[in-house]
Parts: sequence; C-alpha cells; structure tokens
Amino acid sequence: KAPAVARHAKPGQFIIVMVTETSERVPFTLVDWDAEAGTIKLVIEEVGRSSGEIATLQAGDMLAHVTGPLGLPLIIEKVGTVALAGGCYGIGAIYPLARAYKEAGNRVVCVIEACSSYTLYMENELRELCDEVIIVTKDGSRGRKGGVQDVFADLAREGKADQLVAIGCTFMMKIVCDATRELGVPLQVALNPIMVDGTGMCGACRISVGGEARFACVDG
Ligand code: FES
Repeated sequence: KAPAVARHAKPGQFIIVMVTETSERVPFTLVDWDAEAGTIKLVIEEVGRSSGEIATLQAGDMLAHVTGPLGLPLIIEKVGTVALAGGCYGIGAIYPLARAYKEAGNRVVCVIEACSSYTLYMENELRELCDEVIIVTKDGSRGRKGGVQDVFADLAREGKADQLVAIGCTFMMKIVCDATRELGVPLQVALNPIMVDGTGMCGACRISVGGEARFACVDG
C-alpha cells in the first residue's frame, strides 16, 4: 500500500525503496497501481542484498521508505503499431506502457523474453491487454529461440511496427539498439543505472546520451 504514489503514478515512472532504515536505496519500476485502493505493484527479481531483503518480507510487513513516483512519464501518442519488449524484470515494466499505448488507440504487440520458459511471468495479463504477444526464450523451450532483438528487427524490416520500446538489462538494450539502428523505426530503451537519491542530486546515475551528460533518474 502506498496511496500517495498510487494517486500520482504515470506509465514509465519508478519508486525508490528502502527495506529497513539502514538498507540500500533501490529503484523499482511501477508495474501497476490502483489509485482508489491506494496500492502499487512491483516486480522484483531476487539477485542481491536488497531484493533478498524484500523477498524475506511477509504480508503485512512494512518497508521503511517508499519514495515516488520518480522520473519522467513516457510520452504516449497514437502512432499506429507499437511493439514493446520486456526481458527479465522488464516484462513487468512494459505492462503499464502496453495499457497506456492501447488506451491511446494503438495496436500493441508485446514481446517477452526469458532465459527459459519457467522464468516467464505475467503472460496472461499481457495477453488480455495486447493485440499480440510474442514469446522468445534463450534456450528455445517456449516460443521463438533467440532474443527480442531478433523479433524487433523482423517487425521493423517487415514494416509491422511504427514505434519500438524495450526494457531490460543494459546488455539487452545495447543489442536491441544494434539490431534496429539502420531499420528506420524509432526505438526507446530504458536505462537502469545504479541510483542513490533518484532526484538528480547525487550524480550516481549519470549516463552519456549523444555526447551529453544526462541523469537517468530525472531525464529518463
Ligand atoms: Fe542521483 Fe540520479 S540517482 S542523480
């Protein structure tokens, strides 16, 4: 429950969580929210200290701090067909974008990638929302074998997408950029560097975009 966050949340924004008073500050993308119920939903992959701390919480436990919504909302326009790709934690992150693009009158194709079929999630929720869901697995255990970059390149080459959006690890962002750069379809990617304050003050999330320094937390 985080009523103030739920009231103001927009697609593409995130929150920063501290599990206890001495925990790290960790950013998580808002996956869903209900302004009336005052609830928010996050998808958390347990990979390190902080995600491990969250995984030990029981229903009814409290987080020490929840700050947000932070970051710029995604600009959602009617462009025709939008293909959204999510890998790992990014599968959850594309959910609110899919809903917003759909509400704006677009045809929405979601491409979800996992290393193996058993790590896929939210497939049914996305199927309810999207016009088409394409599954890709690294080991070929479900759907197409490969990565979202292969699907995006095909969609762009065949003229089946007017806008591409990808959310996942930095490596996935790089290979999606490399695979689609020459194909003439605009691509937006999500960068998730280490963050501290999430409000543009510490500089921890500094990245270089077109030779200019930007902060992922406030410019992204
Ligand atoms: Fe500190 Fe972005 S997290 S400037």
